Amino acid sequence: MGSFVLLLASILASWTLLSREPRVHALEDGVAKLPVLGYNTWNAYGCGISEAAVLSDAHMLVSLGLRDVGYTHVNIDDCYAEKNRSASGDIVASAARFPSGMNNLTDQIHALNMCYSDSGWYTCAHYPVTPHSFLTLHDRDAKLFQDWGFDYLKFDNCAIPYDDIIRQGIVGKYERIATAIAQLAQDTGKPPLILSLCEWGNEQPWLWAKRFGQSWRTTGDINTSWGSITSIINQNSFITWASDFFGHNDMDMVCADPSTSSGNSGITHEEAKTHFTAWALMKSPLLIGTNLSAISQDNLSILKNQEILAINQDPVVGTSVSPFRWGINPNWVSNSTHPAQYWSGESQNGTVFMLINTLSKPADMFFSLTESPWIRAGRQYAVRDLWTHTDNGTAIRNFTAKAVPAHGVVALLLTDAGDEPPSSGPPCAVLQWCMDKNGTLAPGA
Ligand SMILES: *[C@@H]1O[C@H](CO)[C@@H](O)[C@H](O)[C@H]1NC(C)=O
Ligand SMILES: *[C@@H]1O[C@H](CO)[C@@H](O)[C@H](O)[C@H]1NC(C)=O
Ligand SMILES: *[C@@H]1O[C@H](CO)[C@@H](O)[C@H](O)[C@H]1NC(C)=O
Ligand SMILES: *[C@@H]1O[C@H](CO)[C@@H](O)[C@H](O)[C@H]1NC(C)=O
Ligand SMILES: *[C@@H]1O[C@H](CO)[C@@H](O)[C@H](O)[C@H]1NC(C)=O
Ligand SMILES: *[C@@H]1O[C@H](CO)[C@@H](O)[C@H](O)[C@H]1NC(C)=O
Ligand SMILES: *[C@@H]1O[C@H](CO)[C@@H](O)[C@H](O)[C@H]1NC(C)=O
Ligand SMILES: *[C@@H]1O[C@H](CO)[C@@H](O)[C@H](O)[C@H]1NC(C)=O
Ligand SMILES: *[C@@H]1O[C@H](CO)[C@@H](O)[C@H](O)[C@H]1NC(C)=O
Ligand SMILES: *[C@@H]1O[C@H](CO)[C@@H](O)[C@H](O)[C@H]1NC(C)=O
Repeated sequence: MGSFVLLLASILASWTLLSREPRVHALEDGVAKLPVLGYNTWNAYGCGISEAAVLSDAHMLVSLGLRDVGYTHVNIDDCYAEKNRSASGDIVASAARFPSGMNNLTDQIHALNMCYSDSGWYTCAHYPVTPHSFLTLHDRDAKLFQDWGFDYLKFDNCAIPYDDIIRQGIVGKYERIATAIAQLAQDTGKPPLILSLCEWGNEQPWLWAKRFGQSWRTTGDINTSWGSITSIINQNSFITWASDFFGHNDMDMVCADPSTSSGNSGITHEEAKTHFTAWALMKSPLLIGTNLSAISQDNLSILKNQEILAINQDPVVGTSVSPFRWGINPNWVSNSTHPAQYWSGESQNGTVFMLINTLSKPADMFFSLTESPWIRAGRQYAVRDLWTHTDNGTAIRNFTAKAVPAHGVVALLLTDAGDEPPSSGPPCAVLQWCMDKNGTLAPGA
């Protein structure tokens, strides 16, 4: 289902001032400079949510140590409301699922935030959002969500009214809720609701969504299979440039529960690591989509990899890793089972590399350092392995990750370690057009 209500616990990370010029025009309204980390009820519970389940998962975030590594938002998805609005026009919290009321819940989760709404008549599970005056209810709803103690709104795209009512394109639809949120913040002096756009059905959200919200979905819903993960990586490999501070490509859940949707095959340990690494280094929001009472130690330790999380939450560099070589397929080929394999990006502490073995057997993965635009020629680099948490020596000119497991990932941080030794090989690591001052091409060039 393309829709989610997000309940965000805002033990909100403080946001720091930009330390560099933003490279993309994003909505810098003070919230969600960095990708949101948290939990979402949809994959584990669907419409079967309850305040007890939400509270239990919120407490599990704390007891499992997830809150302490950054997962502070608790997001409720669809099906939180009664089918009808109140006589005065407000959304009414489901009495069966949230008998103590939303404020009770948000108080208990202590600045847990929640919200879900939709830009159409109904939510995706057909819970009415706007039955009477579709065009005027956004202000009312934004106010109610704020009054309920929510600080994050996932705004979906189901149940779209007929054209003769809406007379707007997707931009206008989302602009209305964004305007309501901005106005509310101005009127109340409270921080704006974080706006998570779930504008599926529009293939180019990166062209417009960052004017209105802090993240936008880039694909359909994830399911728990390797094919779904590679397909999402492939699609996002072409739009990595759209993510930066205050605006993020949202690749959908991490650790999505396989039990709620039939046919999902589940994923292996290596695949789960690849999933988490790609989402984190591509600066996606990281929303855990599984029943935390049933999570395995293995998946828990993957979600808690603090060296990977630190890059997702990098306070100095907001950009994503991007492919520098596709690998098995020629560069720029879109292939949903065999996406780009060789990626790099900048970070606060050095250049990050991500290698994905898309083959179903182990493989050595080799790259020349200067294939990455962020590496300086003629320098050597200290190599840190972000999964084994070890210093792996010094790379000169190139690096080979040996026997990367099937569907496995390697994540490295390379930091400058000074000039390379004098006898490091040919005069240029990349010989093409390598030339002596006297006008002679280097041998082999
Ligand atoms: C919801 O509203 C509709 C239309 O006003 C009405 O027919 C229906 O009985 C209401 N349902 C409930 C559960 O109140
Ligand atoms: C919240 O609801 C629970 C259960 O109904 C109740 O025990 C508690 O007193 C309520 N808390 C507040 C702050 O209303
Ligand atoms: C999971 O996603 C993949 C890739 O989008 C798709 O091919 C597959 O049919 C989906 N499986 C299920 C059970 O929805
Ligand atoms: C980890 O979670 C994935 C879903 O993301 C699931 O397919 C897999 O079975 C889980 N692994 C373990 C060891 O529980
Ligand atoms: C969550 O997991 C716990 C422990 O395995 C189980 O008792 C509970 O029924 C699960 N909840 C859902 C909604 O699957
Ligand atoms: C950079 O290194 C410092 C010191 O080890 C660490 O605290 C910080 O999280 C790192 N930043 C990133 C983005 O990895
Ligand atoms: C995707 O790439 C793999 C590896 O090159 C290839 O075998 C497969 O045929 C490609 N799939 C499509 C749909 O082109
Ligand atoms: C990798 O770099 C080393 C120098 O560290 C060099 O001797 C070797 O030839 C390079 N390998 C390849 C395949 O370029
Ligand atoms: C880094 O070193 C560790 C410990 O020796 C090893 O397990 C790991 O495979 C190495 N990483 C790479 C990418 O070679
Ligand atoms: C240019 O310099 C290279 C060594 O750097 C030398 O081998 C070559 O003979 C020189 N060529 C000329 C035309 O001087």
